[in-house]
Amino acid sequence: MKVLVTGGAGFIGHHIALHLDREGFEVSVLDSLQRANPLATTRLRGSGIPLIVGDVRTFQEYGGFDIVVHAAALVNVEESIRNPLEYYDVNIMGTARVGYECSKNKIRLIYLSSAAVYGEPVKTPVSERDPVNPLSPYGLSKLVGEQILGNYSRIYGLKHVSLRLFNVYGPGQNPSYAGVISRFLTNAIEGKSLEIYGDGFQTRDFIHVEDVARVVEKFISQDIFDNEVYNVGTGIGTRIMDLARMIIEISGRSVDIVFKQARAGEVRHSVADISKLRERIPFTPTSLKDGVSKLLQTILGSKALQ
Ligand SMILES: NC(=O)c1ccc[n+]([C@@H]2O[C@H](COP(=O)([O-])OP(=O)(O)OC[C@H]3O[C@@H](n4cnc5c(N)ncnc54)[C@H](O)[C@@H]3O)[C@@H](O)[C@H]2O)c1
Repeated sequence: MKVLVTGGAGFIGHHIALHLDREGFEVSVLDSLQRANPLATTRLRGSGIPLIVGDVRTFQEYGGFDIVVHAAALVNVEESIRNPLEYYDVNIMGTARVGYECSKNKIRLIYLSSAAVYGEPVKTPVSERDPVNPLSPYGLSKLVGEQILGNYSRIYGLKHVSLRLFNVYGPGQNPSYAGVISRFLTNAIEGKSLEIYGDGFQTRDFIHVEDVARVVEKFISQDIFDNEVYNVGTGIGTRIMDLARMIIEISGRSVDIVFKQARAGEVRHSVADISKLRERIPFTPTSLKDGVSKLLQTILGSKALQ
């Protein structure tokens, strides 16, 4: 089965591409390399996965693929507030084009959406039936992407699913806007204090990137393209304060925790209700402690090579 992963030279996309390659799929990657991750491109090269350099807004050579996993996007919430038009252009027009090409070529599509579509959830854990109300242009762009694909399914018969990913962590996150886990770990290793924006009582649902790759693979192998939306998290909320303490403990470094002003566009609580996902696929997420310990070893290993 031939799979194209857009944004496959990025953090999540390259983990999905490598996982599908290991599982025996014939994988190619499409990426503009605008925000590509050096670790990702090296790994792709090492595994022989073909990399097509192209922009999802204009690329039209989809003939021959059975499945597209659409991960290409601009993904920085703060940047999207400073520069909304670029986010609407890349994320909305990119998804509109990818979905349209998949519709024309009868290709099944997995769209990586985001928990950012919920904005501040009305309750935690938040379910797919709860209202959406994105706070940032990034969140809105991901929601419009879902709606465009839903519309294509109705009018062109596109077969797709939208996976609303919660906070994804793991090796190879883009260093310029790495998630809080990578930042905390890097700071702890370097003996620097851990900076918390806000009071530290905000909660997040952290999911390991390899778990995301396994979820994507299960949707493909079980042929689940029912035009539905699925939360992809662990179902467990972790307070940022507790995360900081856990990282200090796991890393064995005695660094301070300092508090800074909360950032615009950030939600207070974000935890996934994953019962809908679990009705469809078997899913046992990696525990946060195991995932963080594994990531620490990876970061220490890569520093040792530098
Ligand atoms: N990281 C998270 O925690 C998280 C959470 C929820 C959803 N997501 C979604 O997962 C997907 C991947 O996110 P990521 O964290 O791996 O981001 P990333 O920035 O590491 O990867 C995105 C990739 O898309 C590429 N890209 C950007 N614009 C492009 C264009 N016009 N044409 C082709 N390629 C383009 C970039 O070069 C980059 O390699 C995104 O769709 C994002 O919205 C991520």
